[in-house]
Amino acid sequence: MTSQTNDKKLWGGRFAEATDRLVELFNASVGFDQRLAEHDIRGSLAHVAMLGEVSILSAEEVAQIEAGLRDVLSDIRAGTFEWRLDREDVHMNVEAALRDRIGPVAGKLHTARSRNDQVAVDFRLFTKEAALDLASKTRALREVMLAEADKYLGRGEQDAVILPGYTHLQVAQPILLSHWFMAYVAMLERDEGRFRDAAERMDESPLGSSALAGTPWPIDRHATAAALGFARPTANSLDGVGSRDFALEFLSACAILSAHLSRLSEELILYSTFEFGFLTLPDSHTTGSSIMPQKKNPDVSELARGKAGRVFGNLMGLLTVVKGTPLAYNKDLQEDKEGVFDSYDTLSIVLRLYAEMLPKTVWHAEATKAAAARGYSTATDVADFLARQGVPFREAHEVVGGLVGVASRSGRQLWELTDDELRAAHTLLSAEIARQLTVEESVKNRLSYGGSAPQRVREAVDAAKAALDP
Ligand code: ARG
Repeated sequence: MTSQTNDKKLWGGRFAEATDRLVELFNASVGFDQRLAEHDIRGSLAHVAMLGEVSILSAEEVAQIEAGLRDVLSDIRAGTFEWRLDREDVHMNVEAALRDRIGPVAGKLHTARSRNDQVAVDFRLFTKEAALDLASKTRALREVMLAEADKYLGRGEQDAVILPGYTHLQVAQPILLSHWFMAYVAMLERDEGRFRDAAERMDESPLGSSALAGTPWPIDRHATAAALGFARPTANSLDGVGSRDFALEFLSACAILSAHLSRLSEELILYSTFEFGFLTLPDSHTTGSSIMPQKKNPDVSELARGKAGRVFGNLMGLLTVVKGTPLAYNKDLQEDKEGVFDSYDTLSIVLRLYAEMLPKTVWHAEATKAAAARGYSTATDVADFLARQGVPFREAHEVVGGLVGVASRSGRQLWELTDDELRAAHTLLSAEIARQLTVEESVKNRLSYGGSAPQRVREAVDAAKAALDP
């Protein structure tokens, strides 16, 4: 970026003194908003075409401006465009470059427009695209996780991979690994929905709101909205230039998705440890240690977990920027962009990495099943057995609690208790019930809708496939 100061500012009319150097630096957004260049030129092309349609500009003027804008765009795409700090932002860089090329007629482009509606439309175009792109990347990860759920469900009850289900990170009840995957599939489905909802709500063009109050020119806002692919123009000019809730919604959908991905990350990190030994992450998506040769570190997951911090921060940042600003536009709003760019970039890469990494992650079915059997994970099944025989559940719970105490004090599992010990706890119990306390049996019985029985999970997987591929 260059920083000449030989230009007269586009807004310089009333100013007698040059802008202070530090103010210029502080004020400039071109360092980051040049990312909106394509959107800015698209907005200008729609605006100038409309100005021609309603005869505010002549066909000749429109043609000159359009050709100039396309010329500027090809320079930007080629990387040969000279971005200038003294030209402050993307809008004035483009406009000044247009004037350099086509002369004073360039000044007619800004008729019936302000940078306030210009930046609002550029940023909406960007954010809408970003929301739809993250929606489809979220969908891609969902497809991957669904395929994993399908894979580990196997062909029948026998080969479905069993995982310990936890509450409070204490072994609770056995579940299917596929059921665990499907939980994330459900979260990702809502995440995708949040991006699509946000994209739909922000699908309104603020262009033509002008500075804040609208304009006396006979512009056609419906035409520019349609040309830019928006469903309609925004209905209130103050709202059009002054609101950023579309960006807040995008950032909050990003934050919630990040929260989900950080939970997934935490589980993968934990399950890949020597102590758990449930899974092995692929070499391609892990790193080594420069001092400890044995190490294989889950950096992708740790970063995915850690990056939730910046993604949450971006939401908090913009909420704080918007809070308390009076209507309509304030320069505070220039602070709206970097967080959106950052959350978009961060999640684009995390979603992609997980979509690549999960199919290459190897789950150790023996280890997960053995872990699922420990920790008295089938104690609820014994209580349910008694309750089915008419014992009130609370009483059954008490009985089985006593048995868990006996077993744990002697370092045994429930199925290792003797016939006498079981009968002593309750006359309805015997070694027979103990033999039925397998994790397979426990999982098989979780037949309630949304439960972890293989049959239910198969239905859930089929329904999720149909939802993805109707
Ligand atoms: N760079 C500014 C922004 O990003 C553009 C709008 C400036 N408008 C103004 N009246 N100064 O918000």
